[in-house]
Amino acid sequence: MTKFKRYLVTSALPYANGPIHIGHLAGVYVPADIYVRYLRLKNEDVVFICGSDEHGVPITLTARKEGLTPQNVVDRYHKIIKKSFKDFGISFDIYSRTSNKIHHETASEIFLNLYNKGEFIEKTSMQYYDEKEKQFLSDRYIIGTCPKCGYEYAYGDQCEKCGSALSPSELINPKSAISGNEPVLKETKHWYLPLDKYEKELKKWILEEHKEWKPNVYGQCKSWLDSGLIPRAVTRDLEWGVKVPLKEAEDKVLYVWFDAPIGYISATKELTPEWEKYWKDKETKMVHFIGKDNIVFHCIIFPSILKHEGSYILPENVPANEFLNLEGNKISTSRNWAVWLHEYLEEFKDKQDVLRYVLTANAPETKDNDFTWKDFQVKNNNELVAGMGNFVNRALVLTHNYFKGIVPEPGEDTPYEKEIREQIIKFKNEIEKNIENFKFREALKDAINITRLGNKYLADTEPWRIIKTDENRVKTILYYSIQICAISSKLAEPFLPFTCKKLSEMLNLNNVAWEDTEKFDLISAGHKINKAELLFERIEDDKIEQQLQKLIKSKEENESAQSFQPLKNSVSYDDFSKMDIRIATIIEAEKIPKTDKLLKLTVDTGIDKREIVSGIAKYYKPEEIIGKQICLLVNLEIRKLRGVESEGMVLMAENKDGTLIFLSPENLSDNGAKIR
Ligand code: 2FM
Ligand code: ZN
Repeated sequence: MTKFKRYLVTSALPYANGPIHIGHLAGVYVPADIYVRYLRLKNEDVVFICGSDEHGVPITLTARKEGLTPQNVVDRYHKIIKKSFKDFGISFDIYSRTSNKIHHETASEIFLNLYNKGEFIEKTSMQYYDEKEKQFLSDRYIIGTCPKCGYEYAYGDQCEKCGSALSPSELINPKSAISGNEPVLKETKHWYLPLDKYEKELKKWILEEHKEWKPNVYGQCKSWLDSGLIPRAVTRDLEWGVKVPLKEAEDKVLYVWFDAPIGYISATKELTPEWEKYWKDKETKMVHFIGKDNIVFHCIIFPSILKHEGSYILPENVPANEFLNLEGNKISTSRNWAVWLHEYLEEFKDKQDVLRYVLTANAPETKDNDFTWKDFQVKNNNELVAGMGNFVNRALVLTHNYFKGIVPEPGEDTPYEKEIREQIIKFKNEIEKNIENFKFREALKDAINITRLGNKYLADTEPWRIIKTDENRVKTILYYSIQICAISSKLAEPFLPFTCKKLSEMLNLNNVAWEDTEKFDLISAGHKINKAELLFERIEDDKIEQQLQKLIKSKEENESAQSFQPLKNSVSYDDFSKMDIRIATIIEAEKIPKTDKLLKLTVDTGIDKREIVSGIAKYYKPEEIIGKQICLLVNLEIRKLRGVESEGMVLMAENKDGTLIFLSPENLSDNGAKIR
């Protein structure tokens, strides 16, 4: 294990385009945090790096949709994400962001180093362009039908339905994601990383030298490499991102997947002036924790950048996880099908470890997995409360009851105690082996087996039955039980940091090192322990029901949102301000003969009196609406309907069932009052 002098652990930089959900946690951040906490407990030199990924098209699309700047969007989410990670106990040494100056400088410098070495291919090609928006359409700016599976809303870089990586030119029926317009082709120049040239060395490095990588990671790399790599553009015609540091490309930025992983380097620079020893010394073990959709970027593209820049080390391992589903469905930010971390932290106060436990026990390490609230409840109540919590409570309460909270002097060991000592060593070894091999589910099982062993020990030896007849034996049993608690407080710490801290405090235990647990006797006889408190609480049905109701509500909202017309493309302020909408009062109303839809209204607009034809006859009787105030678009071009000239349009709300209803001011307003 100590082949390396130090560790550099990175976890994928989340897009600052939405909050963190349980899928992110289970896939990346919880396993990375377990690994790092373990390394720290082993006294290894380790830095744990993360930050917000603040570039990329989705952020600019959110900004457009919400009428904000991209910087506003990333400022908002960076703050939420950073706080939720901290409150959840993800123990980054730094949580930085890619809009920082130091990051722009670092990414530019690496681009220039590659450029000066002549690594890039420069190529002019025809790319899709939105003439109305005056913008090239790359990645998520373009939508069309997937050539692989026929899904109609595939993006220019990826089909979310079948997972295929795409390029805009492959899309059938491409449309601009901004305006919905059909794009035209326009010439543009870009810089490409010649991955085809690197294919051979990548094959050797991954397929021959890293056979130990997880099968899902190795398999995905093999399939990319076997199907042949092609040059990949690392620049884009966009405004938001790291500017390409070349005179001839001042209006272009670096591709987000070029700059984002460099964010790991920038963040390390920000953390320590000694950053180079983590990035440039072969005795550093670099490990990237990511989700499966990031494999190609971390195993093929980023290592190619690092290797050909020339001064950096490559990752030793990239333990990517598969995806976590929620109640049988894919987690989706846009459909609000998720358990959001910041909401969980509010709704389940001080229960960080319950979620950490459930997400680790169910981690999607080898295949996609499912999170259900029922399973969350069962794991909490049966495994944490009735398992670890119950054992610790019994051991401490009995020590208080029988020996005033003073750890008793043990008597003679029996074979049972010898077996416990051996078992604990085995658990410790298994936990270490499994964490070092990124098998966190297995490691967690053994961490929990320690207190399971304790529970069985108490149940088998029944100290409460023999206290009157054999106090010496009870002393041994409780001495051993307290040692098991102490060992558990260390060996379970990477998984359950909040609980283990509480347990150490109850045991009045400081300064125990990971390796000390092998000695078994961590607490001497005569040591006074503190008051026993419950480590975990039961979670009742109503709490779970609330969460399920929340999900049902979000499903219903989604379905009903789908039954409305999809959102139209955004309009400019200029366009909107061209519309003159006013309050008016209906002063006369009559049916138009030979139609059952139309009413002829005479309205007072405060400026004039005019006639309007409106398709509301099915919903309102003429006599009912005289005197009613309405909203009227007064500068619409005049239109003749059934022989009547209509001078405007009454604004109506159209319900899902198609029924129409007036929009009226809440209180009587002036005719002619402007609506803005
Ligand atoms: O998939 C994602 O969420 C990306 N923002 C991950 C980036 S990881 C690294 F390269 F920065
Ligand atoms: Zn597809």
